[in-house]
Amino acid sequence: MNRCSVLVLAAGQGTRMRSRLPKVLHPLAGQPLLWHILRAVRPLQPERLVVITGFQAEAVEQTIAAPDIHWVRQCERKGTGHAVQCALPALKELRGALLILNGDHPLISTEILQQLLDYHHRQGHPLTLLTTRMENPAGYGRVVRDAQGQVACIVEEKDASEAQRAIDEVNTGFYCLSLDRLPHWIGRLDNRNAQNEYYLTDIVPMALAEGGVAAWCCEERIALSGVNDRRQLATLERAFRDRTVAAWMERGVTFVDPESCWVAADAEIGMDTIIEPHVSLGPGTVIGEGCAIGPFCHIQESVIGLECRILSYSHLDGAEVDAECTIGPYARLRPGSRLARKVRVGNFCEVKKSTIGAGTKVNHLSYIGDAQVGSGVNVGAGTITCNYDGVHKHRTVIGDHVFVGSDVQFVAPVQVGVGATIGAGTTVTKDVPADALAISRAHQTHVMGWSEKRKPRS
Ligand code: UD1
Ligand code: CA
Repeated sequence: MNRCSVLVLAAGQGTRMRSRLPKVLHPLAGQPLLWHILRAVRPLQPERLVVITGFQAEAVEQTIAAPDIHWVRQCERKGTGHAVQCALPALKELRGALLILNGDHPLISTEILQQLLDYHHRQGHPLTLLTTRMENPAGYGRVVRDAQGQVACIVEEKDASEAQRAIDEVNTGFYCLSLDRLPHWIGRLDNRNAQNEYYLTDIVPMALAEGGVAAWCCEERIALSGVNDRRQLATLERAFRDRTVAAWMERGVTFVDPESCWVAADAEIGMDTIIEPHVSLGPGTVIGEGCAIGPFCHIQESVIGLECRILSYSHLDGAEVDAECTIGPYARLRPGSRLARKVRVGNFCEVKKSTIGAGTKVNHLSYIGDAQVGSGVNVGAGTITCNYDGVHKHRTVIGDHVFVGSDVQFVAPVQVGVGATIGAGTTVTKDVPADALAISRAHQTHVMGWSEKRKPRS
C-alpha cells in the first residue's frame, strides 16, 4: 500500500448553511460532517493527518478531538488555496503523495480515496483530480477540457461563462498531488477572481505546465456530493440512511418499513432484531441480537442486551438494559438507568439514574429516580421516589423481593430492607426493616346514609 499524508480543509464558515454552527459540525446521521470524512480517511493510515480549522476553530477541535489529528489554524478565510498555504509548515518534512479533501463531502468512502491514490500513482503526474458528472452541477467548479479531452482548468461557477456553466463534469474537491511540488504552486496563487479568494483549483494550469494533470472521473455521484446548504444536507442524510439501513439488513436485521426509520452512523444492531416503522436509533445506540423495537421508539446513547422488547413510543437515552427486558409502551429511560435481566418497565414509567435488579417489575405510571432497586421487586402502580427536596437529590434503596403496593411515595433518603412489604398509599419517610410491613394510611371511617341524604337517588 502506498502511504500518503492527508489534508482536510475545514476552516470555512459555510455561509450558505445560514447557521451559527460551523458547517463541518453540522450533523449527518448524528455525527458531524467532519467525523464522516475522518472515518473514511483513517483506514488509509496516513503518515500525517492535518485538519485546517478557522471559523470557530476551538469548537471544531474540541468536538472532533483525537490524538492522531494535527490541527492547523487558518485565521482569516481567504479561500481554499490560502487554507493549504496555512498548512504548508505542518507538511514541510513530509514526502510522497498528499490527499487534499474538502471537509464538506461527508459520504466519501475509503475505497474511493484509495482508488484516487492508486490512480495518481499509476498515472504518474504531479496532480490528480477527482471529478464526477452531476445532473445539477450548480455551485461546483466546472472541469474545462481542451479539444483533445485533456483537462485545461477548473472554473468556479461565479467566474464561469455561460458555456462553461453548461459543463456537467465538476471538481469534487478531492485531490492527490506530490508534496514536493505543492509549496511552489501555492506560492504563485493570486486572488484575481469573482470572489477575491485564493483558489486551490488554480494550481491546475501550473501542474499542467510542469508535467501534467490526471483526472479520474468517478461515477459515484452521491458519495462525491458536497454540502453547501441545508437541502444538500437533507439529500445526503437520506442517501446515507438508505445505505446504512441496507447494510444492517444485509447483516440480518429486519426493517419492517426501512424508509420511515433513521439510524445514526455509529449505531449497532444485532442479528434477528426486528425494527418496526418510525423508529429512530440515535448516536451511541447498541442493540443486541433478537430484539424487537416497536413503532415510534427513539433510542440514543443506550446499550440493549439480547432479546429485549422495546414496545412502541418508548424513549431511551443513556440507558443500559440487560437481556430479556421488556420496556414500554410509552416508557422513558433517562441517563444512568441500568436494568438487569428480565426487568419489566411498563407504560408511563420514568426511570433516571437508577439500577433495577433482575426480574423486577415497574409496570405502571411510576417514577424511579436516584434509586437502587433490588431483584424480584414488585413496584405497584403510581409509585414515586421523591428524590428532590428543592435543593438536593437523595437516594432511595429498596432491597430484594420487596413488594411495593400502589400509590406509594418514597421520601428520600430512605431505605427498605429485603423482603419488606409497603402497603398501598403509604408515604415512606423512615427506613423500613427487612420483612416488615410499612403502612401509613388514615383509617377509613363510614358515615352511614350520607350519600342518600345529600343527593337522593331518582
Ligand atoms: C470548492 C471548489 C470547487 C469544488 C467544490 C466541491 C475551490 C476554489 N472551489 O468550492 O471547485 O467544485 O469545492 O465541493 O476550491 N475552506 C477553508 N478555508 C477557506 C475556504 C474554504 O478551509 O478559506 C474549506 C471549507 O471549510 C470547505 C472546503 O474548504 O470544507 C471547500 O470550501 P467551500 O467554500 O465550500 O468551496 P466551494 O465553493 O464549495
Ligand atoms: Ca463546498
